[in-house]
Amino acid sequence: MSNTERTYIMIKPDGVQRGLVGKIIARFEERGFKIVALKMAHPTEDHLRKHYADLANKPFFPGLVKYMASGPVIAIVFEGLDAVKTGRAMLGATNPLASPIGSIRGDFALAVGRNICHGSDSVESANKEIDLWFPEGITSWKSVYEGWLY
Ligand code: PPS
Repeated sequence: MSNTERTYIMIKPDGVQRGLVGKIIARFEERGFKIVALKMAHPTEDHLRKHYADLANKPFFPGLVKYMASGPVIAIVFEGLDAVKTGRAMLGATNPLASPIGSIRGDFALAVGRNICHGSDSVESANKEIDLWFPEGITSWKSVYEGWLY
């Protein structure tokens, strides 16, 4: 368990188009996570094939890549205690129908192919995704609460 665990969270094109960026970021900040990287990007299909390389054999892969390349996304790295597992819990299930009310997908999404937000599924994936989306490197800063709040 580490206070400096990082996760890669991406607001997908439908989340951006629907104006949900502020609400989604607010939930992570209010929960206690610290933003250590944030940018808007309009990813190419090639870049997305790398991001979703593990899913290349899935039938939904071509549609997923097209959807994700359809507009800008917000790429974010949040840092904090158990960031990966807590981030996934905050998103809800892959299918919004199975996502509890109170989770991001449970409150804002209806369809699995338009589920508004991505979150890393392990620390290993988070590290790979952070390197892929932020090859320029990311900032590190110390919160005044660190070492005291938790
Ligand atoms: S799987 O099949 O268990 O590996 O899939 P899963 O881990 O649940 O999801 C992996 C990512 O694929 C997206 N996904 C889909 N996109 C479009 N259509 C369909 N049917 C579909 N099923 C899964 C899912 O949202 C995951 O992407 P991220 O970016 O992690 O949300």
